[in-house]
Amino acid sequence: MKFSNQLIYWYLQNDRDLLWRKTKNPYHIWLSEIILQQTRVNQGLSYYVSFVKAFPTVVDLANASESKVLKLWQGLGYYSRARNLHYSAKYIVNELNGVFPTTYEEIKKLKGVGDYTASAIASICFNEPHAVVDGNVYRVLARYFGVSTPINSTKGIKEFKELAQTLIDASQPGTFNQAIMDFGALHCKPQQPLCKSCPFNTSCVALKNQSIKELPVKEKKTKIKQRYFNFLVVLNAEHETVFTERKGKGIWQGLYQFPLVETQKSITKEELMSNSELEKWISTIDEIFLFNEKEIVHKLSHQHLYTKFWILKANNIKSPTISWSMLKKYPVPILIANFLKKFNPINGYF
Ligand code: ADE
Repeated sequence: MKFSNQLIYWYLQNDRDLLWRKTKNPYHIWLSEIILQQTRVNQGLSYYVSFVKAFPTVVDLANASESKVLKLWQGLGYYSRARNLHYSAKYIVNELNGVFPTTYEEIKKLKGVGDYTASAIASICFNEPHAVVDGNVYRVLARYFGVSTPINSTKGIKEFKELAQTLIDASQPGTFNQAIMDFGALHCKPQQPLCKSCPFNTSCVALKNQSIKELPVKEKKTKIKQRYFNFLVVLNAEHETVFTERKGKGIWQGLYQFPLVETQKSITKEELMSNSELEKWISTIDEIFLFNEKEIVHKLSHQHLYTKFWILKANNIKSPTISWSMLKKYPVPILIANFLKKFNPINGYF
């Protein structure tokens, strides 16, 4: 039997009952696909539900404040995805009269939409035969066809896309694409794939060559950068603190944080007290202590953030202050959200 027929036959019996499969609304599919990038399906579901509820149409998303969009996105990471969604919603409303583009080429012009997302939307909503290649697809194809070209190399990206394109069922491209992703997620899993009960176990090259564990191949890329973050949780007797928006380009642009002192290595209380940056926010400190004795390590794709939260009691704060009880209204990186769950000066820290 043809690969696509066998795959779709498997899918008809095993497909996941995912909420966004009940619609062909391209705006909703776009939301689901952007949310699901770098996110597990189980985790993404609640975000999808809140986005559709808060912004039922692309016009609602376009009219929302960036802060509200980022707040709803909080915890998903890769905040540029949320900013791009918002930017593109405004573009659709202002430049395309609020009508979602209907072809692969036009969809790909949206900011934050690459080949994967454009292929997913075009195939699911508009029946265009563009094959999706995500992490699951790389794994299925690398194993089944025994391809060892690194999946994160330019050559690999081209080769796997072309291979997927030769396999797609042009009469039901959306079904084929979702079938191969589900097959990778549920059956041809990264660890302990279900080869014994696999419909392809008589023709899978990696199974025959005992190279399942070695495939797909990934090239080692840039070294992970270590960064040392010291957040200054400045507090006065009125339970007011300093909370500022992160400006400029960067992972957390538009999110809020406590004043940050970044250092070359992990520092002690004495080293922090003699750091000249402190003067920007306070002139004298009444009391200082470290909230977390053990550094919190926040791992991002290209950097590890070694983080300390310093509590500084001071009554002569130089910067504008806000009341502690207002902090929950701001979009924050998950690192700060976790800290806010654990530390509350109003409940008798002082
Ligand atoms: N992962 C991301 N989008 C998906 C979809 N539409 N089907 C299955 N897995 C997915």
